[in-house]
Formats: sequence, C-alpha cells, structure tokens
Amino acid sequence: MRWLTNLATSSIGAKVLMALTGVVLVAFVVGHMIGNLQVFAGREVLNHYAELLQSNRGVLWAIRLFLLGSFATHVFMSSRLTLQNQAARPVPYVNQVPIKSTFTSRNMWVTGFVVLAFLTFHLLHFTVRVTHPEYQQLVEHVGPETRPDVYTMVVMGFREPVVAITYVVAMLLLGLHLSHAISSAFQTMGLNTSKYRPITEKVGPVTAVIVVIGNVTMPLAILAGKVPLPPGAF
Ligand code: HEM
Repeated sequence: MRWLTNLATSSIGAKVLMALTGVVLVAFVVGHMIGNLQVFAGREVLNHYAELLQSNRGVLWAIRLFLLGSFATHVFMSSRLTLQNQAARPVPYVNQVPIKSTFTSRNMWVTGFVVLAFLTFHLLHFTVRVTHPEYQQLVEHVGPETRPDVYTMVVMGFREPVVAITYVVAMLLLGLHLSHAISSAFQTMGLNTSKYRPITEKVGPVTAVIVVIGNVTMPLAILAGKVPLPPGAF
C-alpha cells in the first residue's frame, strides 16, 4: 500500500491519478452523450435504454460508486496541485506574460468548477428530480407495466428556455475543460513526443468539439420544438 500513498502524495503521482480518473470521466461523458442522443429516435427507444440501465441495481450502484470515486479523486488531486503551486509562489510575478499557456489552460480551475456546479444541478434536475418533483410522476405504459418516462422528462426539461440555455453554456465550458484536460493527460503519460504529437494534439480539441456538438444539439433542438412531446403529456 506504501506505493499507493507515495503515488497519491507526490505531484507526478497526483497528475497520473488525475489523468487516469480523467480518462474514466471522459469515457462516461462520451458514452452518456451517445445514449442520450437516442432522444432523437423517440420515446420508446430512449425509455427502453433508460430502463435497461436501471434494471440491474447492483451493477448500476457499482458503476455509480466507481464514477463517484473517480470524480472525487480527480477534484481532490486538482485542488491539491493548485494549492501546492500557489504555495510554491505565494507572491505572483509582477509582470506575468503567459508563455505557451492558453486562456483555457489558465482557467482550468474555473471551467472545472462550472462542470461541478452543472453536475450538481443536473443530478438534482434529472436523477433526484427535486427541482421538478412532477417528473417523478412521468411514466410510460408498456402493456400492463409502466416504466419511467425519461423521454418526456428530457423534452419537458429543455422546453424551459432558462434550463436549455444553462445546459448549452455549461456544455461550452465543459468543452473548454476537456480540450485542455485531454492534451494534458497525454503530456502526463509521456505521449506528447514528436512522434505522437501530430495525433495527440488533435485528440483533445476533436473530442471536445464532438462532446459539445452532441450535447448542445439536444437542448437546442428541443427548445426549437423539433422533438415532440407525446400526446397527453402535461
Ligand atoms: C444535454 C446533455 C445531457 C442530457 C440530455 C443528460 C441527460 C440525463 C438524464 C435523462 C439522466 C437521468 C437518467 C435516468 O434517470 O434514467 C442523466 C443522469 C446523469 N447525467 Fe446526464 N445528461 C447530459 C449531460 C451530462 C453531462 C455533460 C454529464 C457529466 C459531466 C452528465 C452526468 C450525468 C450523471 C453522473 C448522471 C447520473 C447517472 C446515474 O447514476 O443514474 N450528464 N443525464
């Protein structure tokens, strides 16, 4: 276990843990987006998918705990590194002209905080459903059975302009965070060599653009009335 303590307490170890947990979180974000895009395939398809995800409670909770652990480690390590960097230079440079740093790289802390705030709202909105308790009543009848009507919840959710625009802004900031984070992870893993750089320098921005486009399409299309509510939905 000593190696694990050493890994977690050294700054390179913290960076490696941030990169590894970041890979897990990016994989979740991409997978979640692909799943959610089924909203365009209609109510039956999205609700069936949501029902499938919820069907094995044991597996669902194992995945939730793994994601929560990855997220907590990622946030903890990034906070510790930021505080350590600040402590190493308590008095900032008088004339600091950033060299080779970008607006995004200097604001990772800000975009990361926005993602955390978005996620808190998102879970209260669509998972715990406390912001809109009426979502708890939404069910789809399938023969004699009923299942949660995730489709109607998402469509009703994004028909509220404030909610839709909040998601769009949060997704743009998530994109900025991902773009730099993925490039940074390659650097940490030693893959940013001249041989691999032509590929690695594109993976971050390309992934970010795909995630932003995929995720903003849903609130924008729904807000524009392009995704129908089922007849009788209130
Ligand atoms: C437009 C974009 C998004 C849509 C439409 C969306 C939709 C949803 C819906 C409908 C649920 C509840 C599923 C259910 O109860 O069956 C959910 C849960 C969740 N979403 Fe999203 N989501 C979006 C973006 C994101 C992003 C960017 C993240 C991460 C940064 C995220 C993280 C989560 C998490 C962690 C859960 C809880 C999963 C669980 O354990 O049940 N979502 N999302």
